[in-house]
Amino acid sequence: MKPIKVGLLGLGTVGTGVVRIVEGHQDDLSSQVGSPIRIEKVLVKDLQKARSVSIPEEMLTEEACDIIHNPDIDVVVEVMGGIEPTKQYIMEALEQGKHVVTANKDLMALHGREIMAKAKEKRCDVFYEASVAGGIPIIRTLMEGFSSDRIKKIIGIVNGTTNFILTKMSQEGAGYEEVLKEAQALGYAESDPTSDVEGLDAARKMAILATLGFHSDVALEDVDVRGISQIKKEDIAFAKRLGYEMKLLGIAERQDDQISVVVQPTMVSTSHPLAAVNGVFNAVYVYGEAVGETMFYGPGAGEMPTATSVVADLVAVIKNMKLGVNGQRALTPYKEKKLKTDDQ
Ligand code: NDP
Ligand code: HSE
Repeated sequence: MKPIKVGLLGLGTVGTGVVRIVEGHQDDLSSQVGSPIRIEKVLVKDLQKARSVSIPEEMLTEEACDIIHNPDIDVVVEVMGGIEPTKQYIMEALEQGKHVVTANKDLMALHGREIMAKAKEKRCDVFYEASVAGGIPIIRTLMEGFSSDRIKKIIGIVNGTTNFILTKMSQEGAGYEEVLKEAQALGYAESDPTSDVEGLDAARKMAILATLGFHSDVALEDVDVRGISQIKKEDIAFAKRLGYEMKLLGIAERQDDQISVVVQPTMVSTSHPLAAVNGVFNAVYVYGEAVGETMFYGPGAGEMPTATSVVADLVAVIKNMKLGVNGQRALTPYKEKKLKTDDQ
């Protein structure tokens, strides 16, 4: 049977996991979609770099056009990160009629509307499950599982790096700098970890979740952000003595049609389930008018959990291709956005 050919942009932490899952689970994946899935070409920055997966030399390229303008490639999986040239590559791939899977929350939070508009024009899919909360399928859950409900509140620990740092500082009395280095070595942190520790990464994810959950156009600049770089071991120890754990929470609320979204270090009572979310794990609490309280928990970063979400999107895209339909996770807000102001 004719294989589905995939072009992979990036072979770092997540890209490596994607290769491992596509190869390691090939029998299950191909049975589900009815064709073998073949990674055809992989874009990297440095061809000389040692790789932790064995990959034939001729599959690697430093030229994006080998993928974007390759007529054999059906789906582009973007796991290189950053805004440019990544956005340009994705827009060009869509222009060429290729479907896209991405893990890039920076891009989706800032340019998601434009990317989705191009996808719609070209009748292509763009799926981005891995962009929020790594291995937790929270985007699917909000868009499909809760499509019948009115979501009132979303509270998330949505950054693995900062939760890993805060947990180690709390449980082991470790120093901020040393744990940040450990998170980088484990592949959890962004290439510039400032966006993790200053709360920007979480803010991007909360903007995506609030847009999807509240059906309103919540932009990054609508999120009030504070990170954890000023938090000291002493603050955490003090909170602990009072019966609290320090967590970087994203809190999105809709009250009487007014929306507020903040990301801030928060003292969470140890009796609350969010206080027990430790290490690189994430959790997203969703309160819906009809369903009530729900909570989703799992690994929020790292090679294999993130790649699980990426490859699940790839499977969804291929199934759609076979059916001749588009099921893109469109950011199509239909409610007017009214932000809550300080005096309200
Ligand atoms: P890495 O930095 O580990 O890997 C990036 C890869 O992209 C590398 O292979 C690099 O090539 C390649 N690359 C980067 N820039 C270019 C360029 N200009 N041209 C060609 N190749 C390029 O990133 P991650 O795998 O950690 O993250 C990838 C994406 O996934 C990001 O958007 C990130 O936010 C997102 N993400 C990451 C998670 C994680 O746990 N790490 C979790 C969820 C999402 P080379 O190897 O040659 O340097
Ligand atoms: N740097 C991110 C984190 C990767 O630590 O959560 C997952 O999006």
